[in-house]
Amino acid sequence: MIPQKVIEEIRERTDIVQIIGSMLELKKSGSNYKALCPFHGEKTPSFMVSPDKQIYHCFGCGKGGNVFHFLMEYEGVGFVEAVRNLGREIGIDVDKYLGTGEGREKRDRYYSAMEFAARFYHKALLDESGRIRGYLQERDIDDDLCELFGIGYAPAGWDHLYKAALEAGHGKDTLIDLNLVMRSRGGSGYRDYFRNRIIFPIAMLSNRVVGLAGRVLDRSEPKYLNTTESPIYSKGRILYGLNKGKDAIRKSGSAIVVEGYVDYLMLWKKGIRNICAVCGTSLTEEQARLLARYAKRVYIINDGDRAGIRAAVRAADQFIIHGLEAFVVKLPEGEDPDSFVRKQGEENLHDLMQASSSYFIYLKNEAESGSHTTFRKRRVIEHLLG
Ligand code: UTP
Ligand code: MN
Repeated sequence: MIPQKVIEEIRERTDIVQIIGSMLELKKSGSNYKALCPFHGEKTPSFMVSPDKQIYHCFGCGKGGNVFHFLMEYEGVGFVEAVRNLGREIGIDVDKYLGTGEGREKRDRYYSAMEFAARFYHKALLDESGRIRGYLQERDIDDDLCELFGIGYAPAGWDHLYKAALEAGHGKDTLIDLNLVMRSRGGSGYRDYFRNRIIFPIAMLSNRVVGLAGRVLDRSEPKYLNTTESPIYSKGRILYGLNKGKDAIRKSGSAIVVEGYVDYLMLWKKGIRNICAVCGTSLTEEQARLLARYAKRVYIINDGDRAGIRAAVRAADQFIIHGLEAFVVKLPEGEDPDSFVRKQGEENLHDLMQASSSYFIYLKNEAESGSHTTFRKRRVIEHLLG
């Protein structure tokens, strides 16, 4: 527990207007400030910040509270995390008050082991030459991208990470809980989960690495291995790259949602920033809610095949439920966002996005054509009724 007086000191020494103002565009309005609410979609500002009371309130969606509540909601962190982050900014070390809380210590061990693994793999990539570098080059994943996104390489062999992590003081159980290491089949030893794969670290909104994905370099299966659910990672709650894309998403009001890690990276490389990726699952309600904090519109760009379109429509359902406007962008058959921008450039992608019909028009056509589910038909009717 953080002592109440420390929490209060942090609140007193910071200004809610300045903090929210660094994230949203605030306009003076009488003795208050107003902005477009980041927590629900709106066109006229109903989100107010009061410098006198040091609180915020949205008259549209009803959200409100003090600076900590704002940070919790906005950054998707817990109370302690919000206090700690804000404390850090003004030089108050909250950690020292937290003592040695068992749960917290354990969490920190997980974070630090995952961080270690990501760094280990990134370093291993830098040590590589030839084949591995060649593979990345072929895919246009350059050094800058590798650096910025911490991309790495899990060496071939059985226990490179395991040994290095033990040596660095990380516990075996921690590594196993995180699924970085597993018991050898039939044996008494342990081996690394990721072997001979390109590694993509997955970070939370606070930029902390919580999981990894590893891709094979050839055509073997499975193409991607993902960190399994762990005490710090839940794949249905995370959008890959949202930590880097969220500012551009908020500024532009729209988000591009893709399926793959490499799709994301190629769009980034082409200068597109308002992006995030689902990590190879169908979009969950939590992911939709998370994105709804930043975006008003989403463009879902999946593979240009039937499975891709179907998944896009399902994702659009989720987004609509959470108050977003959704567009399903159809790529030519056989292309994904990665291959499309590489061949045709970002201008052509923008053209496709412009030409994509709003989800409701799409559904209306679908409903009229007779191939529809009752669920979607109801959505169309609800929409048309206003
Ligand atoms: P795709 O099969 O479309 O791969 O899977 P991709 O993104 O185009 O990958 P590259 O370009 O060949 O490298 C889309 C996403 O589904 C998840 C991954 O997140 C992948 O990016 N996926 C796919 C898995 O989790 N496991 C798999 O075996 C395959
Ligand atoms: Mn691809």
